[in-house]
Amino acid sequence: MKIIIGGDSAGQPLVKAIADYLSTRDDVSFEDCSPSGDTSGERYASTSERAAMAIREGRAERGILCCGTGLGVSISANKIPGIRAALTHDTYSAERAAKSNNAQIITMGARVIGPELAKAIVEKYLDSEFDPKSSSGPNVEAIDALDRKYSPGAF
Ligand code: RB5
Repeated sequence: MKIIIGGDSAGQPLVKAIADYLSTRDDVSFEDCSPSGDTSGERYASTSERAAMAIREGRAERGILCCGTGLGVSISANKIPGIRAALTHDTYSAERAAKSNNAQIITMGARVIGPELAKAIVEKYLDSEFDPKSSSGPNVEAIDALDRKYSPGAF
């Protein structure tokens, strides 16, 4: 599975921990789209856009984004039509983000949780799959219908 990860400067402690965890799994490859070099002018919305576009363009199947709270990167990623990004600070939510919401991206805050919980959340998320034939199927279809209704030129 191809994964895109990234975060702003506040999110870097979790981005690094997640990169370390992903490096231990031979069933995934990953790329970090965090800003490099001088990050003073970088906005977390740009990092979210890079990750979301990697998913939209098929260069990644899942994304994991981090900022201070996980909120800014989540709100930003959800602005990209077709993207379902979910804030997950516990393993149950991570499982449901995949199984109930077919979220292509999860987000976390480095000022909210520590690296070990973040790794457990990532593990649960990556090991959970959406079943379009499940009772959640029509709900995800309804989410995507909102995108088509309000961003009609984006598909
Ligand atoms: C940056 O200071 C902080 O606001 C950002 O990382 C994030 O938490 C915003 O939602």
